[in-house]
Amino acid sequence: MNTITLLQPDDWHAHLRDGLALERTVPDLAKQFSRAICMPNLVPPVKTVEEAEAYRSRIMAHVPEGIEFDPRMVLYFTDQTSPKEILKIKKSEHVNAIKLYPAGATTNSDNGVSDISKVYAVIEQLEKHQVPLLLHGEVTHNHVDIFDREKRFLDEVLSPLMKQFPGLKLVLEHITTSEAANFVLEHDRNVAATITPQHLLFNRNDMLVGGVKPHFYCLPILKRQTHQQTLLEVATSGNPKFFLGTDSAPHSKNAKENACGCAGCYSAPTAIELYAQAFDQAGKIDRLEGFASHFGADFYGLPRNTSTITLVKEDQIIPESLDYLDGEKIVPLYAGKTIQWRKL
Ligand code: DOR
Ligand code: ZN
Repeated sequence: MNTITLLQPDDWHAHLRDGLALERTVPDLAKQFSRAICMPNLVPPVKTVEEAEAYRSRIMAHVPEGIEFDPRMVLYFTDQTSPKEILKIKKSEHVNAIKLYPAGATTNSDNGVSDISKVYAVIEQLEKHQVPLLLHGEVTHNHVDIFDREKRFLDEVLSPLMKQFPGLKLVLEHITTSEAANFVLEHDRNVAATITPQHLLFNRNDMLVGGVKPHFYCLPILKRQTHQQTLLEVATSGNPKFFLGTDSAPHSKNAKENACGCAGCYSAPTAIELYAQAFDQAGKIDRLEGFASHFGADFYGLPRNTSTITLVKEDQIIPESLDYLDGEKIVPLYAGKTIQWRKL
């Protein structure tokens, strides 16, 4: 198959940042996806429906002419989030979910939840109103090995949470391990997961063998190849509980190539082609449309898109870098490398 046509895909997990960054990130994402869940980990974070609407307007101001893009917004869960805010989400036109970062887990997560058992009153409202809880599923204790943090989250935080709130609708974001994939498989259809292109295409050897490659560093960190294999299996299985979420997360070249480099891979400009590459390598390109264009919308209770895109099997070289902010550069995921798919 050298050409495939898909319903327009959506990205159910992306970081656009704010201010000048939007000049780069919004056009890149809007050219690829019809809708995107815009993550709220700004400084300061997006904590209320009102703040989310204001952020959405700033995003909309950067959508290129002639392109339709519908940013779907998410609130940032803090220790102070009011249970009343959940009903506001339910009634809002543009806000679809709330994102829980365990405090300290990743970029701009300092205002995240310090102890999930302290916010059960809010989670009760989420379950009641069927508002999705989006999870950065890693524990943050210093003594827990970075490669074990997702598994420990499942055992120590998520399993007890699911026992307490069995009807909770949740997305385990950017899963990286077989344990997370199995957790999703073992629960009913209220429990779903997003998977990034980097976790399908790469493993920790790509990041660490032959020198440290900071542009592969993201959180949760790339795991060993057996986990990559499981993620490929579930993503290409046709199971609607697994869908596309790039976690495209821009950081300038200087911030990545640094003694203390930031976590995040910038995949937005060629995201759908990167996924096509992964699905094709697995011999499952025919399963891309469900993963990229059907299952996320179905989970969120939003209509599927109606327009289509076409991908051709044709080499393209990912640029070495792109302009970012005022005179800075950003290095996209797999920069300088050739992939076999191109979006028309
Ligand atoms: O690698 C990551 N980058 N993981 C996250 O969870 C956050 C993101 C970011 O905002 O840079
Ligand atoms: Zn993210």
